[in-house]
Amino acid sequence: MAIFEWRQRRRPLDGGVTRRRHLFRPLYSRKLKRMILFAVVFLAIFPPLFFHLKLRRFRQIVARKCDWLHRPPLVCAHGGDSTRAFPNTMDAYSYAIRSQVDCIEVDVSRSSDGVLFALHNRDLQRIARNSSVQVGDLSMKQIKELDVSQIVRGTLGNRRIPTLEDALAVISNSVRQVILDAKVGPPMYEKGLAQDILSVIEKAQCKNCIVWAKSDSLARDIIKQAPDITVGYIVMVDPSTGVRNNLLRMKGARVVGVYHPLTDEKLVRAAHRRNKEVYAWTVDDADPMKRMLHLGVDAVVTSDPAMFQGLMEDLRTECLEEGFSIRT
Ligand SMILES: *[C@@H]1O[C@H](CO)[C@@H](O)[C@H](O)[C@H]1NC(C)=O
Repeated sequence: MAIFEWRQRRRPLDGGVTRRRHLFRPLYSRKLKRMILFAVVFLAIFPPLFFHLKLRRFRQIVARKCDWLHRPPLVCAHGGDSTRAFPNTMDAYSYAIRSQVDCIEVDVSRSSDGVLFALHNRDLQRIARNSSVQVGDLSMKQIKELDVSQIVRGTLGNRRIPTLEDALAVISNSVRQVILDAKVGPPMYEKGLAQDILSVIEKAQCKNCIVWAKSDSLARDIIKQAPDITVGYIVMVDPSTGVRNNLLRMKGARVVGVYHPLTDEKLVRAAHRRNKEVYAWTVDDADPMKRMLHLGVDAVVTSDPAMFQGLMEDLRTECLEEGFSIRT
């Protein structure tokens, strides 16, 4: 009843005005007005909104491409600069040091008489021209007699295979970090190997040496014997079972060396949550190099450090040109 009365009262006031308007203006003018209003509202809202979203998307793309600049990964030269010299030779180390890499990975194998060399079975087989020989088959004397210049021309002068101690004397003070990739092989396998490695590290006073190995038991031995040394273990697919080994399987180890195709955001996040650094190996092509940057790994091991450095430099320039600012 009350509403009815209110309508009754209201109608003459309001209705009077509208009726008068209707009398003087044609009907379409109201429609036109509404359309103009819509157009104004549309122009006021949508283009700025569109550009805002577009800009945000652009910023996201730039951030994805450039965020690694806040925390660039260590550039680790695999066996030194293996593109310009034979891997694990003094030449390869010199080239890597000259191009100012952050770190060098050295392959470590033990001779039959227990001396550690910066040498990989694969490289020994090339030098000795024998596809079945292993470092542990030869004595220190036999290895020292081998001449690298027989298979690589243009050596800078040092034709001999360095012992680990010789290598560390040159490398350790010239880079931020040294990775010793400890190989296990005949005749002694793991017997006393952790001890031997630690004694060379101590003799060379290598404060920036970290040790990793495919052998978990060797890595664990190192952790047990030298809690101060940074140790890493390897994540890869077991060739016999086809299964990837567990990412977080070693408590005392601070570094996980991951075969680079297995790296993804989830893996990096999981490792970082457990306070472990992710070192991706061995990354020799541009696309996976970019992928490693986007994923924010802590170090990239590559046989071509100069190429990786060039790629990082190009990306840095692009990012700065696109307005990305690096926090300091
Ligand atoms: C290759 O190395 C193996 C292991 O040391 C040795 O038994 C063999 O005689 C070598 N072969 C040649 C052709 O030197």
